Amino acid sequence: MDALAGLPEATLLRDPASMEPFLRDESHVRGPHPLAVVRPHGPRALRELVRLAKAEGFGLVPRGAGTGKAGGCVPTERTVVVDFSAWPGDIRVSPQDLCLHAPASAPLRDVKAAAESQGLFYPPDPNSWESCSLGGTLATNAGGPNACKYGMTRHWVLSVEALLEDGEIHTFGISSVKANAGPALGQLLIGSEGIFGFIVGATLRLMPLPREYATLLLPVKHWEDLLDLPGRLCGAGFLPSAFEFFDPAVLAELRAHGPEEARRLPGEALAILEFDERGCTSEPFLEALHDLLGPVAEGLVIASDARQRNGIWAVRRMTSAFLKERHPKKVSEDIVVPRSRLRDFFAGLDQLGIPAVTYGHLGDGNLHVNLLAAGETEPALLAGQLMGLFRLAVSLGGTLSGEHGIGLAKREAFLALSDPAQLQALRAIKHALDPAGIFNPGKVI
Ligand code: MLT
Ligand code: ZN
Repeated sequence: MDALAGLPEATLLRDPASMEPFLRDESHVRGPHPLAVVRPHGPRALRELVRLAKAEGFGLVPRGAGTGKAGGCVPTERTVVVDFSAWPGDIRVSPQDLCLHAPASAPLRDVKAAAESQGLFYPPDPNSWESCSLGGTLATNAGGPNACKYGMTRHWVLSVEALLEDGEIHTFGISSVKANAGPALGQLLIGSEGIFGFIVGATLRLMPLPREYATLLLPVKHWEDLLDLPGRLCGAGFLPSAFEFFDPAVLAELRAHGPEEARRLPGEALAILEFDERGCTSEPFLEALHDLLGPVAEGLVIASDARQRNGIWAVRRMTSAFLKERHPKKVSEDIVVPRSRLRDFFAGLDQLGIPAVTYGHLGDGNLHVNLLAAGETEPALLAGQLMGLFRLAVSLGGTLSGEHGIGLAKREAFLALSDPAQLQALRAIKHALDPAGIFNPGKVI
């Protein structure tokens, strides 16, 4: 593709070896070699790329740090990967407006740290928060443990700047929580996985940083006892900022093969709960919580300092990578069901007889169901198992992805399980915003 050679404001990678890391993300899917990987340094590169994509008939695949879990940034046939890691811009915090502006290339950890340096908080915390880019979290509407109380990435975005099919960057939204002049096109771009256009920067909403944390380790004798707790806590007026769990199989793996801290973890199954409101470390608060959790707990542990809190979170944060290392060909799903249907979900999973272990975000019903033997399972059987899992979630009022998105990995299931009217509307929007079909072709719809 010689036309790419003269691309202004860009770095170009074209030899197969240097493009190798761009063929995959953190999911189980892998793509073909792209025509090239382009690292734009400015708007002229994007303008020219869009022009060439239309003229030469190739697609553009956006890429942040490659930590996605659904293959959204994986190349498809006849595409150029647009790697936003060198996109220019600084992180600028505005304490007066309680917001922050950052380019898509900003590491999420720097975004969170910049807010914290001013006593402010940006809640989205996908498990990859120390290695992912802000742009990737916007394109995928990333979640994380804190979504239990604070919602997903989209709930914290005031405005986005996005490359559209005219080759220009447009801004949607303003730096205020109140903006109601017509439907919110910016929200359509968040979580669109780049199929409508590419987000190059955003203004994010912030809030004062919590000053107090009560972090609890909740081991239980009978693991099903955990399943009513999220609903019961909410019903009793408690809203944890995180409520994570490991089922007995995951806990057993962690105990047997995990890091030192994990070897001492108690219980048949285990939950991690965190509260961050003012007064959450006070005696009356903890006593009321104890009354609720005590009957199912097998010795509640409350982190007494930051070191203990960090130790608890370190085990949770490494779980995905740890399981992947032990089962490199596992498939990790992220279905979601309403809190009130957790028991029904696990009963249904038992009935399906799918060999799976589960951990994840119990507090908001977003469960990482891991099929550890996926690599050794006959593909048609695996596809049937996954479809059974997705159908079960949908039948309980849930959905097939709580936070990772659709990308390539769940595209077929998404097409099979979605309301045809919704698919038709999405395709009409795609056609209106991207008539030439250059933005992330073959993904989502
Ligand atoms: C997590 O919560 O650990 C991540 O979303 C990764 C996973 O799917 O396991
Ligand atoms: Zn997760």
